[in-house]
Amino acid sequence: MGYQVNGVHWPQLHVHQQTAQLRCLMTALCDKHCPPSDWVFTADRVNRIMVEFALNFLPVQPHHVITPVDDEPLSGVKFAGRIVGVSIVRAGEAMETALRSCCRNVRLGKILVQRDERTAEPRYYMAKLPTDVATRHVLLMDPMLATGGSALMAMGKLLEAGVKESNIIFVNVVASPEGIRNLLSKHPAIQVCTASIAEGLNSQKYIRRSLGDFGDRYFGTL
Ligand code: PRP
Ligand code: URA
Ligand code: MG
Repeated sequence: MGYQVNGVHWPQLHVHQQTAQLRCLMTALCDKHCPPSDWVFTADRVNRIMVEFALNFLPVQPHHVITPVDDEPLSGVKFAGRIVGVSIVRAGEAMETALRSCCRNVRLGKILVQRDERTAEPRYYMAKLPTDVATRHVLLMDPMLATGGSALMAMGKLLEAGVKESNIIFVNVVASPEGIRNLLSKHPAIQVCTASIAEGLNSQKYIRRSLGDFGDRYFGTL
């Protein structure tokens, strides 16, 4: 596994297979003329696909069951350990419904980080995490990875709270090469799951030829 970006191989980077379905959904998200209600519907579809994809990177352990056919035993697996979803507010919150749909009763933490609109520097406001977060596998959710500043700030808060770096999976939709380099060179033990690798950033540090401001389009604050 792993993925190569601009000649560098990142073993911890997992890009979802570019299926026809995913390409159609991503094209709709990148269309500036996509009507808002269609955009939110499509974003929810992609978020669900990405949460399902990321769950594949959680550890499993052997689990034996008795089948209903002649009571024969079957050697299967089950997830090992407990998880928590942590969203980088706001855009990351859009992935919470997808996680709740896949994992019943999942705990959810939040880290509020906002990029300064002028400098694109992240600013930290607050975090609310379950008290036992350090013992859990964390699905850190943010659909956009641009400079990587917001994700790095959130990573700092998780590590401060005692979470093991190797227990963190970053669930994402669009990642820029700059963001990948910044995040994975500082935190090589995490896993990053994304739907697409973008070309790069424009002069305002927005991801080029992409979907624009995810938070603004999802929550209707354009
Ligand atoms: C966006 C996005 C990421 C961040 C990515 O959040 O959701 O959190 O920017 O950019 P970076 O990698 O350069 O830090 P924003 O601060 O716009 O907040 P929002 O989710 O409320 O829109
Ligand atoms: N945040 C977004 O939502 N989009 C970008 O292109 C960059 C940061
Ligand atoms: Mg935003």
